[in-house]
Amino acid sequence: MSKRVVTLAHYYTQPEIQQMADKVGDSLELSLYAKEAQADTIVFAGVRFMAETAKILNPQAEVILPDAGSTCSLVTQTDVAALKVWRESYPDHVHVSYINSSAEHKALSDWIVTSRNVDDIIAYLYEQGKKVIFSPDRNMGAYLNYQYGYDMPLWSAVCEVHDKFNEAALNEAFNAALGEKYLIAHPESPLPVLKKADYVGSTSGMLNWVKQFKGGSNAVIFVATEDGILYNMSLARPDLDLRQAPIYAGCQCNSCPYMKLNTVEAVKRAQQGEGTRIDYLTPEQMDAARIPIERMLEFSQ
Ligand code: 13P
Ligand code: SF4
Repeated sequence: MSKRVVTLAHYYTQPEIQQMADKVGDSLELSLYAKEAQADTIVFAGVRFMAETAKILNPQAEVILPDAGSTCSLVTQTDVAALKVWRESYPDHVHVSYINSSAEHKALSDWIVTSRNVDDIIAYLYEQGKKVIFSPDRNMGAYLNYQYGYDMPLWSAVCEVHDKFNEAALNEAFNAALGEKYLIAHPESPLPVLKKADYVGSTSGMLNWVKQFKGGSNAVIFVATEDGILYNMSLARPDLDLRQAPIYAGCQCNSCPYMKLNTVEAVKRAQQGEGTRIDYLTPEQMDAARIPIERMLEFSQ
């Protein structure tokens, strides 16, 4: 009997990769698809922490990452031994970690969140009277502290792609554009950029905001996130003037190098069983990392 192969792709991959996938989504949607996939093999056209999450949620399936180099700066900037020391210095706090983290990092966490549910989960914890520490994304944590008046101690890693957005380049682009101007941004962006935004949210949240946009026909919408999502936004609303937010004047170039390693050739090879197998996590590591992920999934359903 032939193997059932399911291909999942993140919105940040190239349009041709998204067209090869059974499901396309943000990290929360892809985690749920992976968990429920009736598959012998899951090809994960995304980055390694996403493929690891798929394996943790669906350990029976073989999970293949098309290119071994598909990491994430939030993972590579976090030394897990140092993180453990940091976590232990807050024994009476709940440790909330962004899903952009390694399996070992997740195992040191009480809750996992994605950019889609982070606001609600942290609000819920504060309502319960908990004290919270947040890792690894410093920008996302700074935004939450600013927006809701929290005082969460933060770990200090950034997304190397979103961290490049800056206020000065945006001001120039805003001044040069004619008509109504809007900015939507992913919470991995720096706080001065997020403070200017009309909407801050996850990849899917931004896509929904664009789909429902009811502003004037002269509107210019700047999008501060990875450039892959512009494809989905333009498909949904070809009538809108959607522009990649600049990282410096005149530059339209915010692309995640790790996501873009998912080339057509690499994904085809993975669908034939070649690539990086996520087979190095021990059952104990997976069990420990699954607890905070499942807590999040239960909360979000
Ligand atoms: P989403 O959770 O919005 O899919 O974001 C994942 C990511 O890597 C953003 O850079
Ligand atoms: Fe990581 Fe940033 Fe790439 Fe997302 S865009 S995978 S956070 S490096």
